[in-house]
Order: sequence, then C-alpha cells, then structure tokens
Amino acid sequence: MTLALRDAPAAEANPFRGSQDGNSHKVDACSIVIFGASGDLTKRKLLPALYNLSLDGFLPSPTSIVGVARKPLPDDDFRAQMKEGIQQFSRRRPANEAAWNELASRLHYISADFSDAGSYEKLRADLESVEKRNGTPPNRLFYLAIPPEFIAVAISNLTKSGLLARSNGNWSRVIVEKPFGIDLESARQLNRQLQQYATEKQIYRIDHYLGKETVQNLLVFRFANGIFEPIWNQKYVDHVQITVAETVGVEGRAGYFDKAGVTRDIIQNHVLQLLSLVAMEPPVAFDADAVRDEKVKVLRSLRPIRESEVQILTSRAQYAGGASGGKTVPGYLQEPGIPPESTTETYAAIHCAVDNWRWSGVPFFLRSGKRLARRATEIAIQFKAPPHLLFRGPAQARMEPNVLTLRIQPDEGISIKFTSKVPGPAPVLQPVRMDFLYGTSFGVEPPEAYERLLLDAAAGDSTLFTRADEVEAAWSFITPILDTWKSLGIADLDTYGSGTWGPRSADDLIARSGRAWRRV
Ligand SMILES: NC(=O)c1ccc[n+]([C@@H]2O[C@H](COP(=O)([O-])OP(=O)(O)OC[C@H]3O[C@@H](n4cnc5c(N)ncnc54)[C@H](OP(=O)(O)O)[C@@H]3O)[C@@H](O)[C@H]2O)c1
Repeated sequence: MTLALRDAPAAEANPFRGSQDGNSHKVDACSIVIFGASGDLTKRKLLPALYNLSLDGFLPSPTSIVGVARKPLPDDDFRAQMKEGIQQFSRRRPANEAAWNELASRLHYISADFSDAGSYEKLRADLESVEKRNGTPPNRLFYLAIPPEFIAVAISNLTKSGLLARSNGNWSRVIVEKPFGIDLESARQLNRQLQQYATEKQIYRIDHYLGKETVQNLLVFRFANGIFEPIWNQKYVDHVQITVAETVGVEGRAGYFDKAGVTRDIIQNHVLQLLSLVAMEPPVAFDADAVRDEKVKVLRSLRPIRESEVQILTSRAQYAGGASGGKTVPGYLQEPGIPPESTTETYAAIHCAVDNWRWSGVPFFLRSGKRLARRATEIAIQFKAPPHLLFRGPAQARMEPNVLTLRIQPDEGISIKFTSKVPGPAPVLQPVRMDFLYGTSFGVEPPEAYERLLLDAAAGDSTLFTRADEVEAAWSFITPILDTWKSLGIADLDTYGSGTWGPRSADDLIARSGRAWRRV
C-alpha cells in the first residue's frame, strides 16, 4: 500500500505523491471497462474520479476508458453524458476544453447485454479494436457497476470469452461493487462462483470507505506514532463508539433500501471495516495480505450474539415523520415506494464484544441511521478515568472522560478531549478539545475515495479492498442478528423522530452498560 508521508504541511497539488519509497504507484496503461456505464454510480462517482486522475496525470498513456451497457450509443453521445456528470459531480469541474478533451479522447462506448453470453464475443472484438486504435496494451480492469444479480453471470461470461485470461505479462482484474451478498450463505455462494472463474488476486471487492483519506490515516495514526499504541487496549480504553449518521431519508433508493435496511447497507460492510481497522493488531508489513490477515482476525473475534441476546444487545427502528433540515418530512412507511407494512430498519445499534487479549471487556457500540440529527461518520475512543481522583468537589463535577475522535466525514480530522484548568485562582476544571483538521493542515482537497481505489486496482494493490474471508466473517456476525429480527417481526421494532438522535431502545441499550451515546 502506498502512503503519502510528509514532514510538514505543504500546499501540493498532487495528493498521491511521495510514497514510503519515494515512488508513486506504478500503473500500467490499461483499458478500464465500466459495466453499467449508463448507471448512477458511473455518472456520479466513477467518471468524475477518472477525470480527476486524468487531470493529475495518473492515467498513463495510452489508457482507454470503455463504458458498457445495453442501449446502443455513439461514442460522442456517451462522452456528452459523461461530461454532464463531471460538470455536476466532480470535485474539480472541467476548467478548460483541453483538460476535458484529454479524457474524452480516451472514452469509448460499447453496447452489450451482460446476461447474454453471445454479447461477450462482440464485446471482446470491439474492445480489441479500441485497444488497437489507441495502442493500449491488453491489460484490463473491469468495473462491475451493475445490479448484484448480474455479477456472477458477468464474471463467468468474461472468463468464457477469454477476457479475464492473462498472458505475456498482461493482467486482467475485476472490481465488484457492494452489496456483496445479502447474508452469509449468499456471500459464500458468490465467493465460490467468483473463485471458480477468477483468482482471489484478480477480484477487488470495493468498500469505498476504505478509500477515504481519514480511514487510511487511521493506520498511519496508530502505527506511525509511538504514543497511542501503548494505550490502545483494555487497560486504558473504556469503550469505542462508531457512528455513521445520515440526515437524508431513502431519497430515490426506496426499492433497493427496503430490501437491504441500514444493517446490510452500512453496518455489515462500512462500520465493521472501521471496527476492524481500529481494533486490529499491527500488521507485519503494509501489504495487502498482512493488513487483511489482521483485519479478519478482529472480525472473527466478534462474540456471536445469540438469539436470546438480540433484544438486549441490538436496537432497530424506523424513522417517523418530523422536521429535518428545516423541512417537514414523511415517516419511512409514508415514503413513496415503501410498503406500508415494511419492517426494514432505518436505524440500527449493536453492542459488540471483541473477544481477544487486547479488547477483553471493552464494549464496541456501533450505530447507523437515516434522518438523524446530523450527518457525521466518526470513531470515538473513550478512555478510562484516572485511577485516583485528586480534584474533588465542584472541580471533579466538571471532569469528563478523555475521548479521541477520528472524524471521517464531514470536516475530516482528529480531536482529543482532555480536562484543563480554567485560568484564575480557583481550581475550576473544564473539558477542552485539541483539533487536527485535514483541510487546514494540508491545504489540499483530499481526493475522492473512488480515485484512490481505481488507481490502486489499476496498480494491482488490493490492500484497501475486502478479501473473501473478511466479507464472510462480517456476514457470520451479522446474519444471526438479521435472522432473529426477521423472526421477531415487529416485536422489537422501535421508531424515532426524524431529526433526532435515534430511538429510545438504542439509548437503553448503551445505558445498560452505564454509558451514553455521544451527541456528535
Ligand atoms: N449508485 C450508487 O451511489 C452506488 C453506491 C454504492 C454501490 N452501488 C452499487 O453499484 C452498482 C450499480 O449501481 P447504480 O446505482 O449505478 O445502478 P443503476 O443506476 O441501476 O445502473 C445499472 C447499470 O447496469 C446496466 N445494466 C443492467 N442490466 C444490464 C444488462 N443485462 N446488460 C447490460 N447492462 C445492464 C444498466 O444499463 P442499461 O439499462 O442502460 O443497459 C445501467 O448502466 C449496484 O451494484 C449498486 O449496489 C451504487
């Protein structure tokens, strides 16, 4: 994995420069083939990411970018659609025609139906002709931005048509989008299907949280500093809270969300990935297998939650109508496209235990929800009180626990809360906060997660992608909870007001351990 290390804050345009060995990722010229080229993800995230990589000079020449979907479309129409997406969603807009033309000249479109094996012969012939025209070597990165039910058939057809074969030192890789299965059984089955046609080294399961700068910085923070690791354990840490809070409701994704729920959509993947990075042991090296070996050990150490414990250690709820962002909003069951009898959770909280030497007795509280009071993703590590309290009386009343907060979005940064003396003759204490903000310290806008991940996959670095065993370990923990919720029907399904911090049952969950949720 390449990490950008710096001596001091500096305004530098290139956010990927300066790896540990002084070199950036070595990326071969290749074809980036996006299946699902007319979809939302391509327009909002993938093309803007490729545009920014192109602006920064990270797409080696002659790289080709090929969009694939069913509808026949001339290259120029595809380019016009993608330009519109970049104008709307890119962190940097096309400032001049030259910058846009540089990317546009690499963009092509091929129409094919993923479920039709015959389409792949045509796809192969069309791709080879694009490569020949552009002089692109047959290194291929297939990005499957397609509905999950097409993933297995797409990979099988790619293999059968020879498009995943590697020869003469050329490579072929596949990026697979979430959701990766809907439970343990389906994830295992999908892994088996993929591994039948491609090697694990060719498969890149994307979790875009891992491409976020602050998430990568968590590893640097823990393992490039000597002062935190000695206290990163059950002796000093009281508990950990991981929050992914959204203010939006289901928006236009009712059909998808109602089948998934927040636990499948956010907790099984993003939140458990954050937990594994916070709790993992130092890896022996910063390479894909060493890092993922340690992460999977954490996921396997999660104490299973038995059926009889589900109502004590978890909370789930749906938002009711209310006020959010100054507007009156409907409740979940009143949202267009949501069945009125739906039991899908829009909020979930889980009290987890990591059963290993380092974390014995330290609860990890996870929560995620829609229509909450604030949009925030953070990891908060709360430390134990000092062993002996020197300051008593009113002074002691103002003492609060030390909390180290890693803010992932928005306002990416790290803060530490500690107690300080208020100036003056009296021993008055007050909690204060020391803040590190990415934006102000480095003076550069961090790249989007998809930029980093596309570049890593093109460079053959899978450190920030999830391995088959990680996905299955995460589902092993989550599936029994989902099964119990299903059998409970509405018995434990709570509600919460839109614009609040979640349901009463979640407050009770954490209060049972004598703690409280942070108001982030
Ligand atoms: N959108 C997001 O923000 C987001 C975030 C995280 C993960 N994801 C995941 O990314 C994937 C794509 O999401 P999306 O929102 O972009 O979906 P989408 O807007 O529904 O797009 C689906 C794409 O697949 C193509 N497609 C569907 N069936 C096809 C077939 N048989 N043959 C060829 N093309 C076919 C569609 O093209 P035509 O119908 O034009 O052929 C379209 O380009 C999903 O797995 C989703 O879960 C999306």
